[in-house]
Formats: sequence, structure tokens, C-alpha cells
Amino acid sequence: MIDIHTHILPGVDDGAANWNDALNMARAAVAEGITTMIATPHHANGRYHNTALEVVEHVRHMNEQFMAMGVPLTIQSGQEIRLHGDLLEAWLRKELLPLAGSSYILIELPSSGIPKEMLELIHELNVMNLKPIIAHPERNAEIVRYPDRLAQLIEIGAFAQVTTHSLLGDFGRRIEKTAWSLCRSGLIHIVSSDAHHVERRGFRLRETYDVIRERMGQPWENYFLNNAQRIMDDLPFESMPEEKPFPEGVVQRLRSYFRI
Ligand SMILES: [Fe+2]
Repeated sequence: MIDIHTHILPGVDDGAANWNDALNMARAAVAEGITTMIATPHHANGRYHNTALEVVEHVRHMNEQFMAMGVPLTIQSGQEIRLHGDLLEAWLRKELLPLAGSSYILIELPSSGIPKEMLELIHELNVMNLKPIIAHPERNAEIVRYPDRLAQLIEIGAFAQVTTHSLLGDFGRRIEKTAWSLCRSGLIHIVSSDAHHVERRGFRLRETYDVIRERMGQPWENYFLNNAQRIMDDLPFESMPEEKPFPEGVVQRLRSYFRI
């Protein structure tokens, strides 16, 4: 499996605090079946900067260490870029990194709402042949209240990544419900862990794909799995499965009927 949003680089943000933490995360990821992950430290979120050059250097070092230690995990470079007014200029100054050298970039909205400039930014990024992926929209208060606002962003050329922990209920019932409903509405293109720490906020990627298969069906699991690969290959995302996901209420009723 490929995990496109992680905070594994040690000591650069609120993810892995040191090399030991990073190594523990890497081992946990490998145990789940993750073979490649994109390191996406916070950028320009008011606290962390992590410029492109710094991230690339950290990633190179980490891959060397893993290879020397026999850890079968490849790290690619990326950033979780907080939306800010200087973003396009920062891209031109080469301070920003796309995901794994592709044309996809990971954008984080403020948790409270969607700034007005987001619409214009998506348009500008598209003009520059970049594909913005909105990180965990299910955790944005405005999208939780008005999911149509995400639909609007998708319609004009953005994509969206849901976090495993949201789908599994780790951030509470409301975010869990929003996460599933965005998936079912076809507003989510990619699933990822946003892992920060092996115990406090690990991966749970395999587990999440299993639940997606159970609740939405195999074609949706494949869709999300394949899209992660498509980022690595810098290809457009797949078309969404034709098959409509089975409504959750029906599954629950069947489950309680059969006591499974
Ligand atoms: Fe993140």
C-alpha cells in the first residue's frame, strides 16, 4: 500500500519527534503492508516552514538509513501546504513540493472554514497544471456543516483526501459521519493516514481499506488503492466506480439480522 500523507520526518513538525519515533512509525507501516509513503511535513501553517530543500534532504537521509537497516520502506517527498496568500509565489520560488514529484499538491485549509481565495487558487493551480488535493476536508468545520462547499471546490478542479482516523471514528462521531458521507457522495479521491505517531496517531490504513470494502464494496477499495498509485505515477485519478455504494443502514440491518 501507498500512504500519501504522513508526518514521519523526525523533529520537523508535530509528527515524529526523533529518529526513534520515525523508525517505530516505519516498522508499524511495514507491518501493515505499506511499501511507500510520502512524507508531508507541515509547511506555512504558522508554526512550521519545512522548505522544499530541507524536506528533500531529510527524505534522502531517511531512505539511506532505511536501506542500511533493511527496512523495506521507500519515502517520497511532499509537504502539507497550508493555504496562504503567497502560495503561488512560493511555488514559483521553488519553496513548495508536490507529492512524490507529481503534479498533485497537498493543501491544508484552516480548520474553521474555507477562505474565499481558495476558489481562485484552485483555478490558478490548474492553469499551472497542478492538481490540488484538499487534506482531510471532513475535519473542516464549514464542510462538516455544508458539504456542498466541498462539492463546489471539486467541481472547479480540486480533489480531496480523507483520513483513516476520521473514517474509523477516532475524531468523534460527527467527523466520522461526515467522512463516510463525503466518500459516498463521490467527493473523496484518496485515503491516507496523516500519521503523526505510532501509538497516538498511527496508520490504520489496511484496517480502513477493509472497512471501505465491507461498507462500500470492492470497487471502491480498488478505486482508492489505485488512486494512490496514480499519484506516484503522475496519472489522472480513475473514474469513480459506477456501482453505487450499498447504503449503510441496510448493511447494519442485515448485520443485526444475521448477528455478524
Ligand atoms: Fe497532516
